[in-house]
Parts: sequence; structure tokens; C-alpha cells
Amino acid sequence: MRSVDVCLTHQDFENYDHKGKIVVVIDVLRATSTINTLLFLGADHVRPIGSLEECRSLKDQDYIIMAERLGKKVDGFDYGNSPTKLSEKDIREKKVAIATSNGSKAIIKSEGSKETILCSFLNINSVIDFIHTYESDVILLCSGWLGKTNLEDTLCAGGIIAGLENFEIESDTALIAKALHDKTNNVLETMRLSSHAKRLSGYDNKVDIEFCSRLNTQPIVPILKGNKIVLS
Ligand code: MLT
Repeated sequence: MRSVDVCLTHQDFENYDHKGKIVVVIDVLRATSTINTLLFLGADHVRPIGSLEECRSLKDQDYIIMAERLGKKVDGFDYGNSPTKLSEKDIREKKVAIATSNGSKAIIKSEGSKETILCSFLNINSVIDFIHTYESDVILLCSGWLGKTNLEDTLCAGGIIAGLENFEIESDTALIAKALHDKTNNVLETMRLSSHAKRLSGYDNKVDIEFCSRLNTQPIVPILKGNKIVLS
């Protein structure tokens, strides 16, 4: 029987053997929600970047450059990491580079997996369907926040587990995520309790929280091919 495991922060990922497995990167507020939105709006591809310097340098290669640190847009970049600031006319067919505090780093760390895909509440059922088309074990990689577990990524991981059929729940972290999901009646209400939702609200970013809670409104699956995230 296939197994599913959960890594609660990308800093913990060094303790997981992800070779030959499907890695599902989760950063609900907001990196995987934003990247899903970019591809849903027709971006040609999205490159996850670790450093601000490397991201900035891609402007010269005709990339739209996006950067967020501590939940805020970084000066000198085209966008921060807000999915609600994006429009189809500005994004369609464009190349995008994105450097965020946690999510882009989590994606980069997944290199060497059998496949790396991205999940948020916007595409959770599409991700569950994608997982069922493979035979491999699965690791749900929650980005977390600066090395700490966060509520929304863990809840999303639990939602994926709840939708999986014929999987063995392999670890305590998977049991924790599933239990959180099973006790949650309203995704948005629960997300609003999270530390990052409160942080974003403080930066006048409340609209992003509601947007990122909209279940299955963007039914696509972003997949990492080389150093680019594209539509699967
Ligand atoms: C992250 O990558 O840490 C988050 O997406 C941060 C944010 O967008 O606020």
C-alpha cells in the first residue's frame, strides 16, 4: 500500500527521503496559491528562486520579477506575493520569477523527487486526482513560516490526506494534519486564526486570505520541470 507522510516545515525536509516519491509543496498563504494563480492566468512558466539577487537579475532576461520578505513586497520588484494583485492582461504568456520567504525555498529543496507538484486550497482536488494517477509514495511538504509549523499549510495537508484512497498514513505528522482537517468545518474561519493571516491582515492584505481559501476555484496542477514550474 502507498504511504503518505507530512513534513511540517521546509527546514525539516532534510530528515525526509524524497527520492522516487511525489512531493507536494504547500504554501497556502501565499506562494503556492500565487503560483497556481499565475499559471491559471496563463503565465508561460514560473521559476522559484531562493535569493533576491538572483531573482532581480532575471529582469534582464525579460522575466516579471516577484519578491516577498516577511509577508511584504520587496522594493524594486514588479510584484510581491499577492495573488489578488495579478491580472491576466499583465501575466498571460509571460515568464515569471518569484522569491518568497518560505515557499520558493521549499520548492527548490524538493529537487530529486519523482515529481514535484504544488498545492493550495485553490487546486486541492486536482492535486488529489493527480496523486491517484501515480503509484509512488507521497510526501506533503508544508512550507511553514521561518522554521515554524503553520496552521494553514497543515490544514491543507490534512485535506489532501482526507481525499486519498488506499494510502497508509505513515507518521504522526500525517495523523496530526488529518485530525486538524477532520475537526475543521470552515476553511476560511480556521485560516483567519493563523499567525500569518493576522500578519497579512496587519499589512492590509485581508483580501488575500479570503482569496486563498476558495476551494477548487483554479483546477490545475503546477508541476516542476527542471527549474521551471509549468502546467502539468
Ligand atoms: C512564503 O513563501 O513564506 C509565503 O508565501 C509568504 C507570503 O506570501 O506572505
